[in-house]
Amino acid sequence: MIIFQNRFMDREEAKVDMEDRGYQFGDGVYEVFRIYDGALFDFDNHLDRLVSSAQKIRIELPLSLNEIKKMLMGLVKENSLVNGTLYVQVTRGVANRTHHFPEHPKALLTAYTKQSERPFETTNKGIQTILMDDIRWLRCDIKSINLLPNVLAKQTAKEQGCKEAIFHRDGIVTEGSSSNVFIINGNDLQTHPANNLILNGITRRNIIGLASGLGLNVKEKPYGVEDLLASDEVFVTSTTLEVSPVIGIDSTVIADGQPGPVTRKLQERFEGRVL
Ligand code: PDD
Repeated sequence: MIIFQNRFMDREEAKVDMEDRGYQFGDGVYEVFRIYDGALFDFDNHLDRLVSSAQKIRIELPLSLNEIKKMLMGLVKENSLVNGTLYVQVTRGVANRTHHFPEHPKALLTAYTKQSERPFETTNKGIQTILMDDIRWLRCDIKSINLLPNVLAKQTAKEQGCKEAIFHRDGIVTEGSSSNVFIINGNDLQTHPANNLILNGITRRNIIGLASGLGLNVKEKPYGVEDLLASDEVFVTSTTLEVSPVIGIDSTVIADGQPGPVTRKLQERFEGRVL
């Protein structure tokens, strides 16, 4: 079962209109949720971010927040999803192709679940990454379905045998193509501030909270590529990658090519939160 055009149906029934503005203009927003043991992780924060992304691009949600919440929980239950992800997207709907908003827009919500295992391979062993120029727009705080720069970066990383591309804008590290980036030096944990240049990840927020609890000195402050490459430890966070240690960036080896002790500690604490 899926949700398509604001109602439940079978996947086979769903047909995207050629003039859906999401399809033609990338005019929409999305959210990815993780389900652990049948429960939606940090559900309300993900929902809030969906609402906020929609507001920022002036899309009026087609249903009340309560209705959306109920439908999404219903979908997870209906599909008997125990471990996996829930993808939700809202587009500005269908209208004759013209750039400005339709006179009477009717936003369309799509949601579907996918069963998937947790990323133990990457969280245990760590990941290789590459650095790339951040060529995205200046509203990366919006979880927009316009993901072309992210898609190109991820593909380049894959072609180089890497799991993630780390973006930098004029030498300042922003975030990964689909994750947030943290560095550790001694007792300091640093990550780019949550402004218009990054997506304020839900996993990022959880890690910041857990780090403070561990007595780490959390700094939400920009840092450069040189700092990144010289750090004791580096890791990325996301709903799908969880807390994945970075063990290499281009030809630079990080933390002797092993997940570092502070990253391990944070992973442990994160584990306690999701299960
Ligand atoms: N991406 N930054 C970007 C650009 C992202 O696309 C994501 C998540 C994150 C991490 O956010 P969170 O911790 O809330 O998942 C940061 C999702 C997983 C995706 O596009 O598949």
